Amino acid sequence: MKVIVVKDKVEGGQKAFEIVQQALENGMKTLGLATGSTPETLYENMVASDLDFSQVVGVNLDEYIGLTADHPQSYATFMKEHLFNQKPFKETYIPNGMAPSDTELERYDEVLSTHPIDLQILGIGNNAHIGFNEPGSSFEGKTSKVHLTPSTIEANKRFFDSADEVPRYAYSMGLASIMAAKQILLIAYGENKAEAIAHTLEGPVTEAVPASILQRHDHAIFIIDEAAASQLKNL
Ligand code: GLP
Repeated sequence: MKVIVVKDKVEGGQKAFEIVQQALENGMKTLGLATGSTPETLYENMVASDLDFSQVVGVNLDEYIGLTADHPQSYATFMKEHLFNQKPFKETYIPNGMAPSDTELERYDEVLSTHPIDLQILGIGNNAHIGFNEPGSSFEGKTSKVHLTPSTIEANKRFFDSADEVPRYAYSMGLASIMAAKQILLIAYGENKAEAIAHTLEGPVTEAVPASILQRHDHAIFIIDEAAASQLKNL
């Protein structure tokens, strides 16, 4: 694992952009995308650039169950607003939060096997979840229906009018699907991510810390700001 410590999310967005640019120059066909506030500065750099993504397939990690694609808080809407409306991709995929799980899980696994991910962008939850793979998720997991933990609902309520409006379930790519990406870029900013980052990078590899599985990936890069790095012992 390679760890790059940056001053803040502005510098982080630039560094992350350089990695995406490099992947594109190396012939990237499929880019795995993430939502949340963390990748926003990366997407700003992508939008401001003259890079052409029109031959790249975008595959997103997750979506809330019960929100239509045009709901203001759906991840589908987030992706359109922050990236796809300004930067056309060849095709984009995201789980359908309105589809029943008996067909949607299989459909999304099929999307992933048809489009192997060259570079996967990840944020991280305060409890070290990646995608929506909460603590305890199987390392062998493929796309699944996830019950969100109270801590994730609490963290994500800022985007909704109240915690009651945060969906309780989501579809998420599984940890095995994430690990199948050829390269992984995890980004984390802020002190509230410091404990998750310390457990992820310096703790045991355990399903209790979903992101710790990345220790087993041969090409995982972490871009973290000084606040998120503040609990690391071996920097
Ligand atoms: C959500 C998403 C994750 C994201 C995490 C952190 O739960 N499912 O993919 O990494 O939140 O979000 P933020 O970047 O806003 O801190």
